[in-house]
Amino acid sequence: MTAPKLVAGNWKMNGRMVHLEEALGIATASAAAGDEVDVLLCPPATLLAPMASALTGSNTFVGGQDCHANQSGAHTGEVSAAMLVDAGASHVILGHSERRRDHHEGSADIAAKVQAAWSEGLVAILCIGETEAERDAGSTLTVLAEQLSASLPEGATPENTVIAYEPVWAIGTGRTPSVAQITEAHAAIRAHVPAGIRLLYGGSVTPQNAAAIFATDNVDGALVGGASLKAEDFTPIIDALK
Ligand code: G3H
Repeated sequence: MTAPKLVAGNWKMNGRMVHLEEALGIATASAAAGDEVDVLLCPPATLLAPMASALTGSNTFVGGQDCHANQSGAHTGEVSAAMLVDAGASHVILGHSERRRDHHEGSADIAAKVQAAWSEGLVAILCIGETEAERDAGSTLTVLAEQLSASLPEGATPENTVIAYEPVWAIGTGRTPSVAQITEAHAAIRAHVPAGIRLLYGGSVTPQNAAAIFATDNVDGALVGGASLKAEDFTPIIDALK
């Protein structure tokens, strides 16, 4: 059976208790989407457990934005995959370019995190994507292949892995690749991963551009940042995937 499409919201370092109202609004849209679309919200770690609790009984999944490669130990400030599960998470975003940039995460670090996530039964959403300089240099497909080879361990399946293609230059900028560029990147990624793994596009997805992006070959959904923070923005993106 083909997995449903997936639209995931990455709240990044946004969201306080007061914003759980938005999550409830998004869950309403998720319920309306039924079995056709999986909806996932990835709030900051402080909001994981309360959001999971607020969404109990809904069909909206809750996920983390990162996890440590180890299960426990002397790692101040870190959260393990098992702790995400404790808080109610079913998925975890790994290898986001903001983690690679701000925390100097390399592909080997990310591969270890993917293994840690799998070992706790979490679905890993592995992010890959080229910088603007890499695209300008014509090395986009090489970069994507290298990132996939080095950060996705053996053992990826449609049940435990989702790939998010996020061009770094498109994140939070209001710029998106052309349909041809997304088509080219997703076809290349598809050729590198086991059949059936869902491929998300991420980077400045909005209610206005979602339908065109979702109509692109090999796009199985989206990883949405800014437009996932408010139900009024995220709902039409969910609807565009139906
Ligand atoms: O994880 C989400 C991406 O970084 C996209 O963020 O939709 O705000 O561009 P954005």
